[in-house]
Amino acid sequence: MAGDVQAQVKDTYRELASDYDNVRFVRICASRLVDLTQLQPGESVLDVATGTGHLALAAAQVVGPTGKVTGLDLTKEMLEQARRKADAKGVTNAEWREGDAERLPFPDATFDAVICSSGIFFLPNQLAALREWGRVLKPGGRVIFSTFGKDNNQYLAELAKQWQERYGLTVFEAPTPLPDPNQCRRLLVDADFTDVQVLSERHDYYFSNGDEFWTEFSSTHVRSALAKLSAERRAQFRKDLLTDVEKLARPQGICRTLALNFALGRKRQ
Ligand SMILES: C[S@@+](CC[C@H](N)C(=O)[O-])C[C@H]1O[C@@H](n2cnc3c(N)ncnc32)[C@H](O)[C@@H]1O
Repeated sequence: MAGDVQAQVKDTYRELASDYDNVRFVRICASRLVDLTQLQPGESVLDVATGTGHLALAAAQVVGPTGKVTGLDLTKEMLEQARRKADAKGVTNAEWREGDAERLPFPDATFDAVICSSGIFFLPNQLAALREWGRVLKPGGRVIFSTFGKDNNQYLAELAKQWQERYGLTVFEAPTPLPDPNQCRRLLVDADFTDVQVLSERHDYYFSNGDEFWTEFSSTHVRSALAKLSAERRAQFRKDLLTDVEKLARPQGICRTLALNFALGRKRQ
């Protein structure tokens, strides 16, 4: 099971890596997560499932030259994008490691904080993963992860799903989504963290037109399914989906509502 999921993750994100930064919702989520972690200069941070590293790079700025951030991900192509961005910005306190979130290549008690944005729902054994994250935390260190809430993007998600069904697309969905804040809380308690808190929040953002919506939609995990359609069918899919999506336009644009959970805990002293 874990091997199948990892193979699908790698296939999906390999294909997305170069356009992944078009996806605004994960960046909104990551920037909120970095605020909530309350990082301090000099701290050592692990960003699990770092992707193209925008959370890790934001964290690197906060912890500064006396601190250090390590971004770990399963997909080499996502890490290459992270490394490229770090080099372009002259970041010297971030490093990138290929690896599995459930089996970390670090000694015990290495980090002050372990953070993970939009990644935990890909892990088949989340409890084992959280225990592993606890192992690499220093006593008193913080863990924080995000998931999408129950009614995340309800209407647009349903619309997109209808169109996927109509076109016979099979989309790889995260196997363990954790939409319920109580599930997040339970996991942290069971993994023996203290000071457990889960914040559920909603954030709206807007697309100015259908093209912008499509740019984001086609840069998400649906991409590998879309790639299986002929060019003609793909163009028809886009046209049909956008006809419906554009009906949702308001004066500010087409609204997407993110429902997010942020789960925080602390390793016992
Ligand atoms: C939706 S992206 C999130 C990336 C980044 N954290 C962000 O906020 O944009 C999910 C990432 O999780 C990574 N991933 C999935 N399963 C993983 C695992 N078992 N170990 C490490 N990374 C994993 C994928 O390769 C992908 O880069």
